[in-house]
Amino acid sequence: MAVVTSEILNIVPIDLAFTGLTKDSLAGEVAVVTGGASNVGLGYARALAWAGAKVVVADLNETAGIETQRVINEENEGDVCLFVKTNVTLQEDIDNLAAQAFAKFGKVDILINNAMNMRLNGPILGSSVEDLESSFAISAKGVMMAVKAFVPAMIERGHGTVTYSTTQFHYCPPMVGGSIYTAGKAAATSVIMSLANEVKGTGVNVFCLVPAGVGRIDVSKLPEDMKKRFNPKMMAMPGFESMVPPEAGGAGMVYSILHAEELHGSGIMISDALMAMDYPFPNPETVRPNTAKRMNDMELTMAFCYMGNGFNK
Ligand SMILES: NC(=O)c1ccc[n+]([C@@H]2O[C@H](COP(=O)([O-])OP(=O)(O)OC[C@H]3O[C@@H](n4cnc5c(N)ncnc54)[C@H](O)[C@@H]3O)[C@@H](O)[C@H]2O)c1
Repeated sequence: MAVVTSEILNIVPIDLAFTGLTKDSLAGEVAVVTGGASNVGLGYARALAWAGAKVVVADLNETAGIETQRVINEENEGDVCLFVKTNVTLQEDIDNLAAQAFAKFGKVDILINNAMNMRLNGPILGSSVEDLESSFAISAKGVMMAVKAFVPAMIERGHGTVTYSTTQFHYCPPMVGGSIYTAGKAAATSVIMSLANEVKGTGVNVFCLVPAGVGRIDVSKLPEDMKKRFNPKMMAMPGFESMVPPEAGGAGMVYSILHAEELHGSGIMISDALMAMDYPFPNPETVRPNTAKRMNDMELTMAFCYMGNGFNK
């Protein structure tokens, strides 16, 4: 596999052979990755292509998207990636995305809803109503429009996987500080988990994946005080317990897609996926053991309802 570098994208070479995945793990599959031109989504897109899938990258960022298409095609020495400039909040963009994906690859088997504007993460009292609307437009509305564009054809063929890059915070604990962000993510998670019930038994499998701590930081661009606290061995950041490289996140996503039937109707942390696949991490201590147990559909619904101690008696 060709080693491709990029001045625009923050990437390192990808080779997942050591994980047990193979170059044809996802052969014949076609995937759409929204927000696939940076960080977590870019890791997913590169890993899926490495594992043999054709990948359609849908992202608002045209410069990064075009570069993503170039990098993935060169890495895999073929015409395996298509970038479609897409704003997931616009119906006409989703329609165009679907038209281009079907025209290029004939079908879509995998939909990864991952796009998000991470700046929409203020507190309720300090944010505008427009920010809340924008967050919901990308999260809940964008996910629902993409689902409606791609899932009916999956059901017709009796084959498909739908997933969502969710967060473990479905309302905002004090240490996170992004109420607008978590409100939108919770809404989209609800859409996805409800979809799992709607499509049960159709051959389409639906789950959420939490890419907690996935990302690569350009340390040179960090503020001075954060640079001093950066620990290169652990890749640990203040407020993060670990940073999992996007290629590892991508490997975890491929593994989860291969086990989508098992995961249907549940949510999984990326650290769980990496541990399940015995991901031989360069720094094993950077994979945080997950103490949260995997919840089933009903437990997740109940967890949403559980908001605190309730009445004193
Ligand atoms: N990185 C983490 O630790 C973490 C943890 C939990 C959940 N997540 C979720 O994972 C996803 C990716 O996170 P990230 O850290 O890679 O974010 P990021 O900001 O690096 O990437 C988001 C991508 O989405 C694109 N995007 C933004 N608005 C869009 C729109 N309207 N239409 C299409 N594309 C749009 C951006 O251009 C960007 O390429 C997000 O949904 C995020 O909520 C990330």
